[in-house]
Amino acid sequence: MRKIKNILVTGGAGFIGSNFIHYLFNDTEFDGRIINADKLTYAGNLENLTEINKKHEGKRYFFEKADICDYNAIELLFRKYDIDTVIHFAAESHVDRSIHGPRDFIETNINGTFCLLENARAFWGDRDDVLFHHISTDEVFGSLGETGFFYETTPYDPRSPYSASKASSDHLVRAYNHTYNLPVTLSNCSNNYGPYQFPEKLIPVMILNIKEKKPLPVYGDGRNIRDWLYVNDHNSAAWAIINKGKTGETYNIGGENEWENIKLVNSLCEKVARFLKKDTDYYKKLITFVKDRPGHDRRYAINCDRIKSELGWKQSVDFDAGLDRTIEWYLNNQRWIDNVRSGEYKKWMEKNYSKR
Ligand SMILES: NC(=O)c1ccc[n+]([C@@H]2O[C@H](COP(=O)([O-])OP(=O)(O)OC[C@H]3O[C@@H](n4cnc5c(N)ncnc54)[C@H](O)[C@@H]3O)[C@@H](O)[C@H]2O)c1
Repeated sequence: MRKIKNILVTGGAGFIGSNFIHYLFNDTEFDGRIINADKLTYAGNLENLTEINKKHEGKRYFFEKADICDYNAIELLFRKYDIDTVIHFAAESHVDRSIHGPRDFIETNINGTFCLLENARAFWGDRDDVLFHHISTDEVFGSLGETGFFYETTPYDPRSPYSASKASSDHLVRAYNHTYNLPVTLSNCSNNYGPYQFPEKLIPVMILNIKEKKPLPVYGDGRNIRDWLYVNDHNSAAWAIINKGKTGETYNIGGENEWENIKLVNSLCEKVARFLKKDTDYYKKLITFVKDRPGHDRRYAINCDRIKSELGWKQSVDFDAGLDRTIEWYLNNQRWIDNVRSGEYKKWMEKNYSKR
């Protein structure tokens, strides 16, 4: 197996990236250096890494505030830390935001990925003991009807500015492999949930709105279906690919855990009510159907047989336990919630949502 010495984690202050850094320290034998490069947009939060920072900063963990679109800044990081592996999480990640303002999505997700690839190609030359792992989404495949699954071979059909920008970045990564022999792997994963997820995504929004007795906004008829995976299971899959995956290949990652949004929200009402020792029906009455998101994909469902059979990966956290763990985390981390809801995010919400 390839010895990884210096791994560059882009977007390591975001939801999945910060969980990945925790995962490397807590759940793997990895003993190299971790370099977290993050621009710290509204979604990046160094508080996600307070413990890691205290224990490991300057020894095995290094934070660098950097924009992946800045060629010189990224070049400097490759040289300074002698990077041999990249795991590329950094992205604008929220579909609703991509509908309001796609520009940042094109800039970071497409141009930022291009800039990283260019740097990797220039720094690594024709080395084959290096790897660029690109993290992507199942949303690139479009929308499913009532049956069927997304496979690694499913043709791309992105339908939001977010998914189109991620699809574009996937194509660039594959093109660098085909054209320049850059060693790459890719993964397309379904919806993640867990601690440190920014409270604009479905599960944290609902947990916090239930707790705060605010309306629980559900798009359209609430029957859109998503496949949910606990964030650590995504990260263990990405780590398996980095260590054992075949260069140039793509692996689907999923929870095999499909839920209609409305059923999930009802279940969250029941669970949070149990934690707070309150009446479930009161919370369920807060459910408010709102005008559907433009171009809202109906159903996503991943077939992840390949990573299971070829790399021996499997999900380890069942949904019931994962949701309980997540709810408990959000109920016990009010300071984190107050902090991420202030600053840039607050300004953006006021500008974009104040007239609604
Ligand atoms: N959240 C999901 O359910 C999910 C599912 C599948 C795939 N993904 C993919 O996983 C990755 C991480 O998603 P997430 O949910 O953790 O996102 P997130 O929005 O929580 O975090 C993104 C991070 O990237 C950083 N960032 C943004 N622009 C940057 C730039 N130009 N330069 C450097 N850093 C920048 C942000 O500061 C933030 O820390 C994304 O590529 C996303 O497409 C997410």
